[in-house]
Amino acid sequence: MEVVTARLRLDALRDGDADALFACRSDPAVSRYQGWKPASVADAAKFIDALQGVAPDTPDAWWQRAIRLRDSGELIGDLGLHFADDGTIELGISLAPAHQRRGYAREVVEVMLDFVFGGLRKKRVIARVDPRNFMCMRLLEGLGMHRRDAQAGNVVFELPASEWLAAPDEPGDR
Ligand SMILES: CC(C)(COP(=O)(O)OP(=O)(O)OC[C@H]1O[C@@H](n2cnc3c(N)ncnc32)[C@H](O)[C@@H]1OP(=O)(O)O)[C@@H](O)C(=O)NCCC(=O)NCCS
Repeated sequence: MEVVTARLRLDALRDGDADALFACRSDPAVSRYQGWKPASVADAAKFIDALQGVAPDTPDAWWQRAIRLRDSGELIGDLGLHFADDGTIELGISLAPAHQRRGYAREVVEVMLDFVFGGLRKKRVIARVDPRNFMCMRLLEGLGMHRRDAQAGNVVFELPASEWLAAPDEPGDR
């Protein structure tokens, strides 16, 4: 499945992405508050390999998408959705530092929330965030997600489908 937005393209991570994925995910500014950090390019390649054949909505699996610049195809980050057995979707996103603060994260998360709630008809999306991860919390709050109780040291953000589907569709209206 490929999704195209105004400036970006989301599609599958491929073998040739290992170098760029390693550079992004091993950067301390990206890995600081995250659970996974590749130790080497080979580690990133193994991660990509393990994702092959995973379809969206596979129970208890992460479905990971490459985030690319629409025109050049350059890999600038990745986005993952985890499909828990109880129907809850967990969202995670990483962008290379050179591509942060341009609205790209919001652009891709918005389109994925449309897919999860409008396409897959899921009821709830959450994100688990380190309480020191100010940029991520700002992104999630800006998208209308609600801060819930902390779990295992992380702040949990939640968005019910009813709120997303009821909101106007124009950019900037959310
Ligand atoms: C969390 C993360 C993905 C957010 O990325 P980001 O680039 O800061 O988020 P956005 O792309 O939505 O940009 C946000 C800012 O860019 C601004 N911006 C700049 N140019 C813009 C444009 N052309 N269009 C829209 N917004 C723009 C926005 O106004 C916003 O600023 P604000 O926060 O002051 O309102 C990023 O910080 C990251 O990858 N962090 C490391 C990985 C991580 O910890 N991930 C965990 C997330 S669960």
